[in-house]
Amino acid sequence: MAATPSPSNIESTSTRAPIDLTSTSFLEQLTGDEPDVDLGAPFTIGVAGTRAVEIDGRVALAPMAGVSVQAFRRQGRRFGANVVFTEMVSVSGLHYANERTRDYLRIATDEHPIAVQLFGTDPKLMYDAAQQVAESGADMIDINMGCPVKKVAKTGAGCAMLDDHDLAVAVARACVDATDLPVTIKIRRGMKNGSRDCLTLGPRLVEEAGVSALTIHPRSAAQMYTGFADHALTAELVELVDVPVFASGDITDRVRAEATMALTGCAAVMVGRAAQGNPWAVRDLASGNQVEPEAEERVAELVRFIREVTREMPEQRATGFLRKFYGWYLRGGAFGRQQRRDLMELETTLQVQEYLLSRWPDAEPRLAELERTVRYPDDTDSIIELPVSIYGGG
Ligand SMILES: Cc1cc2nc3c(=O)[nH]c(=O)nc-3n(C[C@H](O)[C@H](O)[C@H](O)COP(=O)(O)O)c2cc1C
Repeated sequence: MAATPSPSNIESTSTRAPIDLTSTSFLEQLTGDEPDVDLGAPFTIGVAGTRAVEIDGRVALAPMAGVSVQAFRRQGRRFGANVVFTEMVSVSGLHYANERTRDYLRIATDEHPIAVQLFGTDPKLMYDAAQQVAESGADMIDINMGCPVKKVAKTGAGCAMLDDHDLAVAVARACVDATDLPVTIKIRRGMKNGSRDCLTLGPRLVEEAGVSALTIHPRSAAQMYTGFADHALTAELVELVDVPVFASGDITDRVRAEATMALTGCAAVMVGRAAQGNPWAVRDLASGNQVEPEAEERVAELVRFIREVTREMPEQRATGFLRKFYGWYLRGGAFGRQQRRDLMELETTLQVQEYLLSRWPDAEPRLAELERTVRYPDDTDSIIELPVSIYGGG
């Protein structure tokens, strides 16, 4: 492991060209001398003293507030994601025994390995929350230190930690001390454009707090989702720490995933937006199977997703939650704008299912096959009222 550079020389030492996966030329950066990468190779997360977690491949499904509900995570696992993350959970909510927040900690048996993501600023509350996460049966505790959403940042949590490294280390340390689960942290590059703060904070989180893995989304908080994630920083971070690093940002297909691993040396890649309403992107990433689904397959998978979501939350919440998914699932040639619009206007999820199956009757046998082969989570014979995050867009 290379020595940690001091903050002063961090601003000036990079000689690396940016790695922009959104540009068509990113592959030109490969020299051919990179080590072979294998997205199917298992690896382990867990430093000494923690219960190590075996992960059977290199593709993680990103935590996404307002998206990564249990149905999304289970579907991601079914399509090949090797590890999944929950939406971020407020530790204050857990502390005040807010039932809805507690329900975030419900985990189905087929989600493992899974990390529950927490956000907060008070080390004592983080400690207690980490213990609750361990009791829930999660495999890892992840801490959000990148969310740029105002509601989160103004409390000092999420991306605000990128500007307060001592507090970030204290918060991470509290979670490490609370249980024997590995603690992982998700960061952005820094608050401001061009920031390289991740390169000082990341090593401190590992060396001083004892965290077991890092995820970096190398955009600044100010950037939100504009521009590109500069994975040259991922490569620099990898050199500075001796724990696995997940690369997050603009990883949409297998080519990008393999190039990112080869160019940065990261241990694993994380897919977020590309997987929204598109589990086939996860399948491509995890197995290299790039076959575009037929319309019937999309419809069957969407109907099954709707059914699972309506077991997670009451009808009224499900209706609102699901609307964004209709557009995501039904992109592509076979679906018209009018049909997507119709779906938005239907009032119940049952009406949506009927609409879809009457327009695409060939989806019926595929749906029946899904219903036959993919079981519902063990504890959801009735509505279990899992909550959906109110903090969109981490
Ligand atoms: C709707 C949405 C919600 C998100 N919520 C979270 C979150 O709760 N926690 C987190 O660490 N990152 C969150 N993110 C960031 C993603 O995990 C990921 O780092 C980012 O989207 C970049 O990856 P991508 O280009 O594959 O989407 C969210 C992103 C989106 C689009």
